[in-house]
Amino acid sequence: MEYLTLANGMQMPILGFGTYLITDAGECTRSVAAAVENGYRLLDTAQIYGNEAAVGEAIRACGMPREELFLITKLWFDSYEPAAARRAIGESLKKLGTDYLDMVLLHWPYGDTYAAWRVLEEFHEQGVIRALGVSNYTPDRLVDLMHFHRVAPVLNQIEVNLWCQRQTERPWQEKLGVAIQAYAPMGRKRPPEYFDDPVLVAMGRKYNKSVRQIMLRFLIQKGVAVIPKSVHPERIRENIQVFDFTLNAEEMSVLTAFDRAEPLIGDPQNPNRVERLLGM
Ligand SMILES: NC(=O)c1ccc[n+]([C@@H]2O[C@H](COP(=O)([O-])OP(=O)(O)OC[C@H]3O[C@@H](n4cnc5c(N)ncnc54)[C@H](OP(=O)(O)O)[C@@H]3O)[C@@H](O)[C@H]2O)c1
Repeated sequence: MEYLTLANGMQMPILGFGTYLITDAGECTRSVAAAVENGYRLLDTAQIYGNEAAVGEAIRACGMPREELFLITKLWFDSYEPAAARRAIGESLKKLGTDYLDMVLLHWPYGDTYAAWRVLEEFHEQGVIRALGVSNYTPDRLVDLMHFHRVAPVLNQIEVNLWCQRQTERPWQEKLGVAIQAYAPMGRKRPPEYFDDPVLVAMGRKYNKSVRQIMLRFLIQKGVAVIPKSVHPERIRENIQVFDFTLNAEEMSVLTAFDRAEPLIGDPQNPNRVERLLGM
């Protein structure tokens, strides 16, 4: 496993396990257990995923010491008011069966984000949350938050993949010292034919890797953390086997040219999407 050093000095595994849409408790517990068994040490969940208890159950059952794991959860925007935020963090701790969280993210930049941030800062100062971060933040919102914080965000979890590389956002993230963690790193929601692209298939064949492994490796070499999700043990294993080959400079530039700068999930500047999300 490789690690990213965050701006607060913490070491974060560059590859972790995503759990969105794993709603069945048994399936979630089995998938997380398979992930840990195969070497994943970072687990990403969220209050809205409804699976924190199952993730907690898997952590207890797998016997991995808590301090070996990097646990991230996210606060949903209906819990951004202070009393609700305190309650929600308490519930996450209880469901995950832990007395501390490695990182908590504000899931979306809507509602009273500053009230929520102050609550996260309280928990951070008490040592209950080791690091704070955000998700689905655009650089302008990050600059705003960086200006008014006591505790700075060290991570922004956003949609990043081959077709949505965030090339304009990345320099801002670097300048602000906020690492990027890619969600949908294998392009969930992209049409199946994208994955049959002959250039990607040929590159995979050269390294004896799948197209998805090439995509994950590409992001890792760009310094972007990734959190692939699967419920299938063989895919869970496949998705972490990306540390035994290196794409060369020419291949990196070929892959960079796939960018369409097109988010399909996380586009906080699209009012139609925001309206749909807030109506959830
Ligand atoms: N902050 C946010 O707003 C936000 C939004 C979305 C996601 N996330 C986080 O990011 C994580 C990853 O993103 P994601 O789940 O949206 O997308 P993803 O990891 O890019 O893709 C997951 C999809 O790919 C399939 N898959 C996984 N490995 C595969 C393989 N080796 N070969 C073929 N298909 C494979 C999975 O199906 P199977 O499970 O059937 O294998 C699933 O349909 C989430 O789980 C969640 O933790 C955060």
